Amino acid sequence: MDIVQVVLPNGSYKIYIGTGTLEKLGEYLPFEKKTRLFVITNDRVGPLYGNKLVESLQEYGYKTLYHQVPDGEEYKSFATAEELFTCAIKGGLDRGSAVIALGGGVIGDLAGFVAATYMRGIPLIQVPTTLLAQVDSSVGGKVAVNHPLGKNMIGSFYQPRLVFIDLQVLKTLDPREVRSGLAEVIKYGVIQDRGFFNFLEEHLAGIKALDLELLSAVVKKSCSIKGRIVEEDEKERGLRSLLNFGHTIGHALEVITDYRVYRHGEAVSMGMVAAAEIAVGRGLLAKEEAERLVMLLENAGLPTVIPFGADEIIPLLSRDKKAQEGRPRFVLLLGLGKAALFDDVGEAEIREAIEKCCKKGER
Ligand code: NAD
Ligand code: GLY
Repeated sequence: MDIVQVVLPNGSYKIYIGTGTLEKLGEYLPFEKKTRLFVITNDRVGPLYGNKLVESLQEYGYKTLYHQVPDGEEYKSFATAEELFTCAIKGGLDRGSAVIALGGGVIGDLAGFVAATYMRGIPLIQVPTTLLAQVDSSVGGKVAVNHPLGKNMIGSFYQPRLVFIDLQVLKTLDPREVRSGLAEVIKYGVIQDRGFFNFLEEHLAGIKALDLELLSAVVKKSCSIKGRIVEEDEKERGLRSLLNFGHTIGHALEVITDYRVYRHGEAVSMGMVAAAEIAVGRGLLAKEEAERLVMLLENAGLPTVIPFGADEIIPLLSRDKKAQEGRPRFVLLLGLGKAALFDDVGEAEIREAIEKCCKKGER
């Protein structure tokens, strides 16, 4: 099994990356046998992997409590968290117990929120089952539920005790979800590691076909990049903001469509293209490099043409959670593999970039 270590002052942890390893989780848990483990999943992932995991944990001598919530972003809510708290109290979970989040980013964030707040916090184990969760949401400790007035509005930084990745589970994932996760993978290359970007260009077909050796390399590299960033800036005071590349306009596209049309990675893909256009406009990024990014996203099966106009998108940017005093902040590329945060991007530049991204569809 590969291991990526995340070293933090208030608790370092390991990310284990293996294939066909789900039922071995019990061997790696840092708890005494008989510890009560609350396995939280949903009604899509549960029937596939829930029983297997619970039975294996029991064989290792752990006591288990199991709960499935309905599948969907709308269940990343206070109401579902309350349902889980009730289940935990009735099931006798105490401060010596732990939560196991088995699922994609929705379950990771929701179960993480429950772990962070139940009895002021009990240990959290992330067992991510989507590519997006394996390369992004399970690492770094952001946990949250949505509020009717905004996504991820109520949450905390709460690092897991360990992250346990079984690549084999990606085989049952809808291809659209794989593509959504690939957007975040491409993001890592483009903001931090040119060599990784080149690797993705070279091996994209195999990665899309879920070649396990390639996936292992991709997940390991992505977790290492994210882990290093989190080590340097756990609470997103600076460096960690670079992970928001493509998210300023991507998030606006999710809001315009009420989170119903695009998977997160799809919105981020269009957002990355628009941000690349802004950087080209400023002379920070060569046009050919922006084109390489667009080509990689297109080959990954991700959208790169924005079907909304600047007038619809721009008003939403100042309301973004990451805007400062109403000024949108953009992560811009300084070349492939290098990025920086800017808060001085003017409306005219944004408008021009969005218009270019809309027009691409007319070619
Ligand atoms: P998701 O959790 O909704 O999973 C996508 C779909 O795949 C769901 O239908 C799910 O049930 C299904 N699924 C999961 N694993 C499966 C498997 N192995 N086989 C078959 N089906 C499977 O979506 P996601 O893209 O994983 O996560 C999105 C969420 O993550 C959002 O709520 C977002 O806010 C959050 N997020 C959090 C962070 C963070 O740092 N905490 C980062 C990025 C995104
Ligand atoms: N997904 C962005 C972050 O963890 O900071």
